[in-house]
Amino acid sequence: MNFKEESEQKIKAIEAVLRRYLPQEEGYRRRVAEAMNYAILAGGKRLRPMIMAESAALFTETAGIYGEQKIPESERKPALIDRAMPLFMAALEMIHNYSLVHDDLPAMDNDEYRRGRKTTHVVYGEGMAVLAGDALLNYAFETASRAFDSAETIEEFRKVADSMKILSYRAGIDGMIGGQCADLEAEKPDTEVTEDMLMYIHEHKTAALIQAAMAIGGTLAGGSKEEVAALEKCAYKIGIAFQIQDDILDVTSSLEVLGKQVGSDEKNHKLTYVAVHGLEESKRQVERLSEEAVKTLASFPRRNLFLEELVRQLIYREK
Ligand code: IPE
Ligand code: IPE
Ligand code: MG
Ligand code: MG
Ligand code: MG
Repeated sequence: MNFKEESEQKIKAIEAVLRRYLPQEEGYRRRVAEAMNYAILAGGKRLRPMIMAESAALFTETAGIYGEQKIPESERKPALIDRAMPLFMAALEMIHNYSLVHDDLPAMDNDEYRRGRKTTHVVYGEGMAVLAGDALLNYAFETASRAFDSAETIEEFRKVADSMKILSYRAGIDGMIGGQCADLEAEKPDTEVTEDMLMYIHEHKTAALIQAAMAIGGTLAGGSKEEVAALEKCAYKIGIAFQIQDDILDVTSSLEVLGKQVGSDEKNHKLTYVAVHGLEESKRQVERLSEEAVKTLASFPRRNLFLEELVRQLIYREK
């Protein structure tokens, strides 16, 4: 199987996991459930849950997560990652999608297209989009907290607790929300923007959730504190490169290819890597950071060639 086929298969498996945990569309809160499902089932690269599972694979066998058991189920005792990681994968994707629903609102980036479809607020109205975002965030923690039920020992319980801490910290005020705050502040004409602020925005609004993915994958799979710290450093580089590439595509791509309206950053006077450093230097930086991240990944005793290739492929991604 080549890389493309393998990643498509993994995306399908991740979407099956997601569907397991999404809300039923029924009762008086039906409309908000529809908006949540519309927002999250619209496609997307599923990068964060994929990176979580692939980071776990740096430490242990993870076949169970993607549903393709190599060892017959009868001969295999499900490990903590089989029991708990799908819940965290779904939770992280819910948080990512909530952030996008809110990011697209007229009060933030005011964008009408995402993944080739109309954004949630355009279809369901702004009020329902606000609620759908809030609900996805809550549902994420409701889902992840069910992982406690799957812990069978104190050690496992501790790993789930550590993962909850990572998830809440990286999504919160000193993580993704902090980055979104600085992103909005930097738009204002009277804000004095600096390189430090630019890097703060990239690190927090984007790298933080990738850091959560890698750190939770490593933690649930039994990585040591040092190993998880190394993964977080690596995720920082992948995340910064990912946001720079997002900023590049906002300038160089098209609605048809990207699935989002291009020129959004210029329209909103965003502080982006491309605006400060130009396209060529931005492309070089994406390559540099990604190669550094791959080098770190290759230094783990149990190599994950799929993950290394995934990081390399992100350099040239078109959407
Ligand atoms: C878009 O994220 C927002 C950023 C942090 C750049 P993705 O590019 O991962 O979006 P989807 O989930 O694949 O649509
Ligand atoms: C969004 O950055 C980051 C988050 C939603 C946390 P952008 O505003 O650049 O993402 P897109 O381009 O709308 O996907
Ligand atoms: Mg934004
Ligand atoms: Mg945006
Ligand atoms: Mg963007």
